[in-house]
Amino acid sequence: MNSIASGTVLITGPTGGLGRAATLAMADRPAHERPDLLLVGRAGRALTEVAQEARAAGAVVREIGCDLARLADVRTAAQQVEQLLHDGAVRPLRGLVANAGLSSADTHNVSADGYELTFAVNYLAHAQLIGDLLDSFATPARIVLLGSNTYYQNIFRRILSVAPAAWRDPIELSRPTAAEVPATLELSGTAYSDSKLAILYYAHELQRRAPAGINVAVFEPGFMPGTGLMREHGAAAQRIGRAIGRIPGVSSPARSGPALASIMLDDRWAHLRDGAFVVKDQEREVQPFAKDPHREARLWDATAELLKSAA
Ligand SMILES: NC(=O)c1ccc[n+]([C@@H]2O[C@H](COP(=O)([O-])OP(=O)(O)OC[C@H]3O[C@@H](n4cnc5c(N)ncnc54)[C@H](OP(=O)(O)O)[C@@H]3O)[C@@H](O)[C@H]2O)c1
Repeated sequence: MNSIASGTVLITGPTGGLGRAATLAMADRPAHERPDLLLVGRAGRALTEVAQEARAAGAVVREIGCDLARLADVRTAAQQVEQLLHDGAVRPLRGLVANAGLSSADTHNVSADGYELTFAVNYLAHAQLIGDLLDSFATPARIVLLGSNTYYQNIFRRILSVAPAAWRDPIELSRPTAAEVPATLELSGTAYSDSKLAILYYAHELQRRAPAGINVAVFEPGFMPGTGLMREHGAAAQRIGRAIGRIPGVSSPARSGPALASIMLDDRWAHLRDGAFVVKDQEREVQPFAKDPHREARLWDATAELLKSAA
């Protein structure tokens, strides 16, 4: 049996888009390649339905209701995971997919803890969850975080007005836009791209700090128009997304879900570590500025501060 599939994989955001497709791709594997699954998502029908579908495919599945915009919920979810592992309700924890994400249209919006919502859900909640569970993994284990190439701009993204990251100190990134500054598409895009640059920096630092045997990688699924990610951005953005979705080679959860399952489960990816960046099924170098030990150490410390002050 494959080493990761002999244990349990936790995935956040299994209720829609990529996370749902990756969950079902793992559940649909033959029994000897199929891990137990911990589904961490907002409680409700979508969570129950994906859990039922995964069980129908043969997987052992536990649902953990959790709003990632509420750090107290995340801490409770981690405790529930520890309890399930302790009770032997699922096999040892060998994988974590930090998939959940959003792009808040209005950067005045805050999480329950008062942090800018996109930064809070995409980055801080996962840092809390992973930090709480880091000593609970059996090794070998894999942590796969969700990145996005929007962290830097190229000609294509410039034409589409996709804002790149504009890195600032993480304490500043965690703050919502000041009330007197109007919400703009640009601010929203920058917040999303900053959260994904934070994921890259975090992945590099996490690998340095994680116990031996835990490998950290970052997956970029390719542009998948039509998922729920841009749901707050209005009909025009959805229409543009659907139009781009017809271009050959553009991705979708149906294509990238199995690719994400493969990164988590397959032996061919066992070498990935140090925050290796995989776009669909190709390893890629990140931009030079996305590897920065100084920023990475500062992000680690600032994250500890932000999580502590919300505890
Ligand atoms: N779509 C793309 O083109 C693209 C490209 C690169 C990277 N990505 C990344 O891929 C990942 C999945 O995105 P997607 O496109 O599949 O989007 P999606 O369809 O909107 O799925 C996002 C998932 O995150 C969950 N989520 C959001 N806020 C949450 C919260 N507060 N608490 C718990 N769960 C929450 C959603 O749950 P609910 O159903 O409860 O909202 C949903 O399950 C994200 O990290 C995204 O940044 C996407």
